[in-house]
Amino acid sequence: MRAITKNVYSVGVQDWDRRLFDELIPLPDGTSYNAYLIKGSEKTALIDAVDPAKIQDLISHLVGAGVENLDYVISHHAEQDHSGGIVDVLMVYPDAKIVTNAKCKSLLLDHLDVDEEQFIEVTEGQTLSLGDKTLQFIITPWVHWPETMCTYVREDKILFSCDFFGSHQATSSLFVEDEGKVYEAAKRYYAEIMMPFRSAIAGNLKKLEPLEIAMIAPSHGPVYPRPALIMDAYKDWISDRVENKVIIAYVSMHDSTRQMVEYLVDSLMDKGVGVKQFNLTGIDLGHLAIDLVDAATVILAAPTVLVGPHPSAAHAAFVVNALKPKARFAGIIGSYGWGSKMVETLTGLLSNLKAEILEPVMVKGQPKPDDFEKLEALAEMIKAKHQGLNILK
Ligand code: FEO
Repeated sequence: MRAITKNVYSVGVQDWDRRLFDELIPLPDGTSYNAYLIKGSEKTALIDAVDPAKIQDLISHLVGAGVENLDYVISHHAEQDHSGGIVDVLMVYPDAKIVTNAKCKSLLLDHLDVDEEQFIEVTEGQTLSLGDKTLQFIITPWVHWPETMCTYVREDKILFSCDFFGSHQATSSLFVEDEGKVYEAAKRYYAEIMMPFRSAIAGNLKKLEPLEIAMIAPSHGPVYPRPALIMDAYKDWISDRVENKVIIAYVSMHDSTRQMVEYLVDSLMDKGVGVKQFNLTGIDLGHLAIDLVDAATVILAAPTVLVGPHPSAAHAAFVVNALKPKARFAGIIGSYGWGSKMVETLTGLLSNLKAEILEPVMVKGQPKPDDFEKLEALAEMIKAKHQGLNILK
């Protein structure tokens, strides 16, 4: 149990060894399930629980620190990594009430073996006094489920934000020390988890504007003693600003697509267009997601397999579509042996993107000189498009 400020403690757990979240999201640096204990002069509250796999660690932190009574468990989010341990907490502290909003209560009743009588339902702006500390609840939907909320401690000016502003890192640092490292981890987290909800995030950031925030304590990663680091980053990431950057995500079977990608990359570089080439075979898609946050253009490149796109490209298209990046332009290039519906299939998979789809380039067999001319024209088009956005001179 480590003090953040007087009578506010971090009591959560580091999960150094976890390498995958939701059996989907890579965790190169593990993660943490943060929980916080707030001791008021009259009442004591626990902010969130932890993943069920680590619940005994949380309980031993509380019991080991001599916490004899809990009045409230504030539940910000019904996802299991923060709520899954609540039942075990209530076994040790049976008098504690679960404090949350109506939507989260409904989801917790779906996911946990708890009774309705154990809840105290709160609404936007409502406060709960712990004596000398006042908790103010801020409903912040879609960061990243519909029921998510935050708690602001007025006297200490701390915002407990749950997943909002988080970063997947297991670290011994209670507070952010290396801002660059945390920025990158938080950008990956935003890209993988928050990016589809840009407009909801904008509304939630506006809701936080009237608050004087001295610290942000998220549910994953270290506490921000300088909230502007992460709040300014979020404002940038959700803005319409894109960078002079083309992402080319590709897979190649017999080298045709690789030749096309390498030609396009070289041509774009010669024209001053920023470009990143991602081989989809064995990739950590988190790297791709990070660049999707601000890339102006996304290109998918693949050979044809059984008439459609290579499954790795279809998977990438599905992920890109689900993450809803703000790219302004998208393109498809690739190859086929005797026939292909790859362009139609991939275009259909990208239906969430509000991007202009550029003229595709498809090659039969090995690329020939006139195919490279088409790729040259595509590179010229991308350059002109980026110039049109004033992100390239
Ligand atoms: Fe960290 Fe959405 O759970």
